Amino acid sequence: MLLFVDTADTEVIRELAETGLVDGVTTNPSLIAKAGRPMAEVIAEICATVEGPVSAEVAAVEHEAMLREGEKLAAIAPNVVVKVPLTYEGLKATAEFARRGVQTNVTLCFSATQALLAAKAGATYVSPFVGRLDDHGADGTDLLIEIRTIFDNYDFDTEILAASLRTPAHVKAAAMAGCDCATLPPATFRELVKHPLTEKGLDQFLADWARTGQSIL
Ligand code: E4P
Repeated sequence: MLLFVDTADTEVIRELAETGLVDGVTTNPSLIAKAGRPMAEVIAEICATVEGPVSAEVAAVEHEAMLREGEKLAAIAPNVVVKVPLTYEGLKATAEFARRGVQTNVTLCFSATQALLAAKAGATYVSPFVGRLDDHGADGTDLLIEIRTIFDNYDFDTEILAASLRTPAHVKAAAMAGCDCATLPPATFRELVKHPLTEKGLDQFLADWARTGQSIL
């Protein structure tokens, strides 16, 4: 499963990219607003840092305007993926982007039937929002399993990009469901490697090693 980081903070992306584990980046208008910098500049900087797909979201709600915005965003760098909302206008734009060979990430997916429409429209990625469904009283991880089943039933190429993941348990659920990619906020990304027994075990090993007085080099 590819791991993307969900932020527009270029400093944080650079830091996490040093782990060699960042396969891509997702942004959204809220994250761009939080960055407080011009969108084109931020996206260009992210694309220069990370080789993999970088999602940049349109702000238009009508498909012709989405196409114009998407073309402008896609021209920033070859690894830009145009993010469009899961509306009929967004799906019309998605189908046209597919004809033009522009990669898309259909976002704000909250149901299996929405995901089915995104796949039929030719989306490169669809982003089911797990955490926001949990907040809404549903089980967001069930949706991932449903979408995986539907896409496999019909051999859709659209990749499932599990989004709105807030905890390592969400990431595990995405991997267990067979999602192609998962996008995580930086804090969750950092959490993934942690386990108290790893820290405890390492402390013990280092203390025992120090007592030997040896040096490997
Ligand atoms: C993904 O593309 C979205 O930007 C993101 O995962 C939304 O997460 P949130 O629900 O925590 O805002």
